[in-house]
Amino acid sequence: MPVLLSADHPQPLPVSLSTVRTDAERLLQLCGQQPCDWSILLVDDPRMARLNEQYRAKKGPTNVLAFSLREGETYPDDGPLGDVVISLDTAAREAQREGISLRRRLQILLIHGLLHLLGQDHERSEAEAERMEADERQLLNRLDDTQRRTSMTNLAINVDHVATLRQARGINEPDPVLAAGICELAGAAGIVVHLREDRRHIQDRDVYLLRQTVKTKLNLEMGAAPEIINIALDVKPDMVTLVPEKRQELTTEGGLNVTGQKKKLAAVIDRFIGAGIPVSLFIDPDLKQVKAAKDIGATFVEIHTGRYCDADDETERAKEFNLVAAAADEAFAMGLRVNAGHGLNYLTTAPVAALKSIEELSIGHAIMARAIFVGLDQAVREMLAQVAAGSR
Ligand code: PXP
Repeated sequence: MPVLLSADHPQPLPVSLSTVRTDAERLLQLCGQQPCDWSILLVDDPRMARLNEQYRAKKGPTNVLAFSLREGETYPDDGPLGDVVISLDTAAREAQREGISLRRRLQILLIHGLLHLLGQDHERSEAEAERMEADERQLLNRLDDTQRRTSMTNLAINVDHVATLRQARGINEPDPVLAAGICELAGAAGIVVHLREDRRHIQDRDVYLLRQTVKTKLNLEMGAAPEIINIALDVKPDMVTLVPEKRQELTTEGGLNVTGQKKKLAAVIDRFIGAGIPVSLFIDPDLKQVKAAKDIGATFVEIHTGRYCDADDETERAKEFNLVAAAADEAFAMGLRVNAGHGLNYLTTAPVAALKSIEELSIGHAIMARAIFVGLDQAVREMLAQVAAGSR
């Protein structure tokens, strides 16, 4: 067993151990290591502070410590590598400060620890510090590349239109909460609802109930209005997606103008991140908007696929697709997590699912329209087949 991963932390872990193990195993491979024992221990701050004092005579916790078993000796290539200890508390604080996921922060710390185990040391000289930093960046990029090639795109389903039908009669059916359960049973990886200021479809009751019933991931779409922000902070969805909202529009018409309202959006992002809720910004496939989203600390961007889907001819569609792909790749390269959505249907989804920098697609209308004829379970499964066809 090449990677021996254990955790000694009093709270439920905010990260899946199997993902950390997978990342560590891939890193070993990328460093050209023969299968060898690499022990990784995830601890809390108090334990890290004790180790830091004991081995480095330093007060307080640090993020990562590495104890090489290969220092200064001849050793077999497949002999044990050593131990890396990471403080999850410190890693989580750093992730929040940098606006990146905890998994991403752990990847960076694993790489740092691994290079120490392999004999690099940034404290020896400036030149070595520079080399180590360059190697760290390169390893992180290569890790992303392996990941891009291996993971399947998620499908999150927007159930607003079930509520639209309910509101048309002003009665209590069909129920978007029930629809969300059916979507999850059919294989959806998440549920999305948009709580609009005019409450034209989703109601407060839906959001509170979904918070209790959704087993996968609840993504609350919303405009940055104070009333809705307060509800979101109270509901605590798994993430929020900020969208521009106009009362007259039939559906969200375009992406957020992030460049034009950086200060306002940064303050909203800070409130959510401070409450432990990751924030996605719905933006047009425009590199300036991607950069601005990164600058103000968004966790995700959702790239607007509307113009790609609505293109009048294939030339136009290819042009719009290239813009989506370029924006998604650029966002991913900057360390943002990337979703996409709007207008995707059974014909336009697979090519977008094939973009390796995109983690999740958010789709509503096409699935609900098909569900009327074939049933919701079947409509979800057919869309999942499109996503899988693209992800292959
Ligand atoms: N993403 C965002 C930000 C949206 O506003 C919507 C529509 O509510 C969607 C995705 C889903 O779009 P569609 O219903 O066209 O699939």
